[in-house]
Amino acid sequence: MSSSIPSMFQTPGPGDLANSDYPQPTPPLTIIIFGASGDLTRRKLIPALYDLKVDGLLHPETRILGVARSPKTHEEFRGELRSAVQTFSRSPDHIDLFAEFEKGIFYHSMTFDDPNGYTAIRTTLLSDEFRKPTEGNVLFYLATQPSFFVPIIRNLKNFSLSNINEEPEETPHPFTRIIIEKPFGRDLATARDLNREVLQVFSENQVYRIDHYLGKETVQNILVFRLSNPVFSSLWTNTFVKSVHISVFETVGVEGRGGYFEEAGILRDMVQSHLFQLLTLTAMEPPVAFEAGSIRDEKVKVIRSLKPVRTEDIPRSIVRGQYTVGEVDGVPVAGYRNEPKIPPVSDTPTFAKLRVEIQNWRWAGVPFFLTAGKRMSRRETLVHLIFKEFPFALFRLAGSPDTIPNELTIRIQPNEGISLRFGLKHPGGTFVIDPVDMDFSYQQAYRTQSPEAYERLLHDAIVGDSTLFARNDEVENSWSFMAPFLGDLTKLSPLRFYTAGTDGPEEQDRLSNSISH
Ligand code: BG6
Repeated sequence: MSSSIPSMFQTPGPGDLANSDYPQPTPPLTIIIFGASGDLTRRKLIPALYDLKVDGLLHPETRILGVARSPKTHEEFRGELRSAVQTFSRSPDHIDLFAEFEKGIFYHSMTFDDPNGYTAIRTTLLSDEFRKPTEGNVLFYLATQPSFFVPIIRNLKNFSLSNINEEPEETPHPFTRIIIEKPFGRDLATARDLNREVLQVFSENQVYRIDHYLGKETVQNILVFRLSNPVFSSLWTNTFVKSVHISVFETVGVEGRGGYFEEAGILRDMVQSHLFQLLTLTAMEPPVAFEAGSIRDEKVKVIRSLKPVRTEDIPRSIVRGQYTVGEVDGVPVAGYRNEPKIPPVSDTPTFAKLRVEIQNWRWAGVPFFLTAGKRMSRRETLVHLIFKEFPFALFRLAGSPDTIPNELTIRIQPNEGISLRFGLKHPGGTFVIDPVDMDFSYQQAYRTQSPEAYERLLHDAIVGDSTLFARNDEVENSWSFMAPFLGDLTKLSPLRFYTAGTDGPEEQDRLSNSISH
């Protein structure tokens, strides 16, 4: 495939806003990050905002107010963020801009139930130093542990922060928005509660439920690839597709987040969120228009079309696993039960493979396999379609041992790209078929680094584009489908153990072999 990219696709350099293909710069605003001492702020949020700045997309009048329990001064906070940017941003070579960036960074220490804290935030937001240059625009970011989401939302209302812009004096009218991190609830009931709480305080169009997989270039490309190429669009149905395999393999374990992971497990941490996003984008119908409402409508329809799993279906619909001591990339690693904060008898899954069916015109009869695993042999996220074979294998008669199914693989990460497998005549006097791959690699073609997922999503939330965020009904429907898998499955789907650094439990192949229920 082509490796020369037309110049219109080249990414502008630092500070270059002249290219009209590139996203619009953000308006001025204050971003209030609750949970500002956490890993997410340090590793993702601040580096992403800094990269937006380096790309010339962040308005110079952007204020960032970090809020967390640990006491520290503005200066200490800025110092921490400087080293975070040097370590985690895409632009460590442009650290010279940090001096300007940090002028807009502030810190406020408080517990999330402290009335004085919210009063102080309100005073800050209304002060001339904030209100005037930011034109009153406010974005709250909930990056705390999920148990703090509801108390913070209630306090935003009680202390008149959520409606700080209700009296419109300015033109244009300033916005108030809120980004809520995943996991959004831990089951249907808690997701509904959280939706109810947040929608009592904000309207749906102010709420941005984030799933960072939607910010990944290659995830967005699933739609572009499917819907801009007639050749592939026409194959994208049960007439041609035999099975679809969506997999997120990670080499990392629980990375010091034992307490959280023990509560969540792989089904809540990865499947209900990231894998469902990949599933909906892979399976949805073309939207009537490429805009938030239409795209979200189609995604919800996919989830609502999932065949509900009855108790008796569970054994053939899921395999759950947990890693034991092993080696990843040659380095010895602990078993899950020996990780910090994990009980030695934990039966929390770190691996799951689900077999689901979409009961609609396009996909009836095609099994979709969703697999997620920690401490696997490799880091790899794939959407893999296996196409049906001819009912008659002509070349088997001509001496070829087998037929080769066509396969399409969208590599979401790493080594982002797309490959198509087909059969080809092996050179020589026989009709033996060889499988060969036609391969497209993003890196070879573009040679530029794509923006990080959080850059794209923060940018979109600031400019008010909710296309890449989950809507309330999407979240609730996905929890509703997941309900049968979230109970006690000890008997219906016993936990299978796999050695860290391998491909997961052997039992997973049993699901793959059964094509229909
Ligand atoms: C997070 C999960 O949402 O996604 C983590 O909580 C997981 O457990 C991470 O490791 C994976 O993200 P990525 O972008 O590295 O694939």
